[in-house]
Amino acid sequence: MKMQYDLDTLRERHSVRKYSDRAVPAAEIGQLRDLVAELNRTYKGVRFSLVVNDGETFNSFKRTYGMISGVKNYLVAVADTTVADSEEIAGFCGEAFVMAATAMGLGTCFVGATYNPATVKIILSASEEIAFLVPFGYENEDGPGFLGKLVSKITHRKSILPEDFYDNSLGFFNLQEALERMPALRDALEALAAAPSGMNKQPARIWMGEDTMLHLGVAFKGDYTSIDLGIAKFNVQAVIPGKWEWGAGGALLSEA
Ligand SMILES: Cc1cc2nc3c(=O)[nH]c(=O)nc-3n(C[C@H](O)[C@H](O)[C@H](O)COP(=O)(O)O)c2cc1C
Repeated sequence: MKMQYDLDTLRERHSVRKYSDRAVPAAEIGQLRDLVAELNRTYKGVRFSLVVNDGETFNSFKRTYGMISGVKNYLVAVADTTVADSEEIAGFCGEAFVMAATAMGLGTCFVGATYNPATVKIILSASEEIAFLVPFGYENEDGPGFLGKLVSKITHRKSILPEDFYDNSLGFFNLQEALERMPALRDALEALAAAPSGMNKQPARIWMGEDTMLHLGVAFKGDYTSIDLGIAKFNVQAVIPGKWEWGAGGALLSEA
């Protein structure tokens, strides 16, 4: 499974809400299926499923803040509510999927709300719930259209500067000291600024503890913040290889 991505590829990802008719080739679908199988084997408390060639879930239902159209393929991310940190792990794996699709030239969008749950092609056990969906496919070449542009402008705006993702109050070291110890932290801050988040709230914050390890948590708790935390952890380990402890405040352990 590809875990490392450069900053340019992380920044290339943006939420695509209007998909073209162009079919995703079978070879790409095959690679994404392999990735899903690997995620299902590797991570506990989460389950992923690919739905290919189904238009119903997104196109039969319209809700606010979405305006998502032309979807034929999507990933379903399921979290087991009885397993600790399952939503966060789902977010981490979802971003692994999103970045693999981005590297193939496909558009994606995390979708937590703007779809019709009744039409999702999946059977859930009593303790499972859908964490989010990720439609994927080629971006409509006509562009997003007027409303789509408006949604994209409002939602893609990165209001938080990269350095503001560092939490000086939780850090044992301030940002300057942390950067001196670990210059690659600069890339981690940029990777956080490029990460998608629910309602673009960008809640993830990073700091260096007394243990000189990086820790990641959220500035506030809300609807999607556990998923956002997992996404943020993926983006940081994409530029600084390591293995995250799950949970808010978890540390990035070195792999060596
Ligand atoms: C957990 C989660 C849920 C999201 N839910 C929706 C949604 O229901 N509808 C939607 O249009 N976008 C949704 N988004 C996409 C965000 O609005 C988008 O990532 C954010 O505004 C940043 O824009 P960007 O992805 O283009 O960088 C969601 C993103 C995340 C991470």
